[in-house]
Amino acid sequence: MVSLLNDELLDRIADALTDKGYIVLEDVLPETLSSALLDKVNHSPVESFRWAEIGRGNERVREQEIRSDRIRWLNEAQQPDADYLEYMACLRHGLNRRLFMGLFDYESHYAFYRPGTFYRKHLDALRGSRNRILTTVFFLNPDWQQGDGGELMLYEEDDALLEQIPPRMGTLVIFLSERFPHEVLPTHKDRASIAGWFRVAGSYELL
Ligand code: OGA
Ligand code: MN
Repeated sequence: MVSLLNDELLDRIADALTDKGYIVLEDVLPETLSSALLDKVNHSPVESFRWAEIGRGNERVREQEIRSDRIRWLNEAQQPDADYLEYMACLRHGLNRRLFMGLFDYESHYAFYRPGTFYRKHLDALRGSRNRILTTVFFLNPDWQQGDGGELMLYEEDDALLEQIPPRMGTLVIFLSERFPHEVLPTHKDRASIAGWFRVAGSYELL
């Protein structure tokens, strides 16, 4: 299952993270896994997705001015979630061996954006913590076309635009969580993705 995540690809990812802090990859997940994830999203009742919240602890609010997607956390007791999590565990080990990042675990959720929804510009690393180190976003939109909206916009620390990434099926984006503000432009079509975060140990009390 994880054969595509070979040493050569891991070297490429590690080099890109060292040089520029992010990488956009196409079709690096096994095809069977991508389509199983797509099937899962297509067959999940919308009630199984919750409105996304922002902040943590008592500060948690549903803030539709900032994000209006619905999410469901991956569950390692189910497929294809377990295979996706295993793929990410291999990525974590591979990067730890190369970059000594000390990545300890990974959490991720499916996100579903209905037409008209978005996620305004934000940083994934929670303020005042080194909780989230590395972000992954995997897209599940086989019919995405120019003009459908929902692009992932990646910005420099000074807010200069770095990349406008179409949320096309099979694209995987990996970036340093503390470094890159990003946003999801309003989508005109249903849009599905899986966002995830590698974390370092000792950060649980911050959640
Ligand atoms: C996030 C996020 C992007 C996407 O959930 O933090 O930036 O394309 N998601 O789903
Ligand atoms: Mn984000």
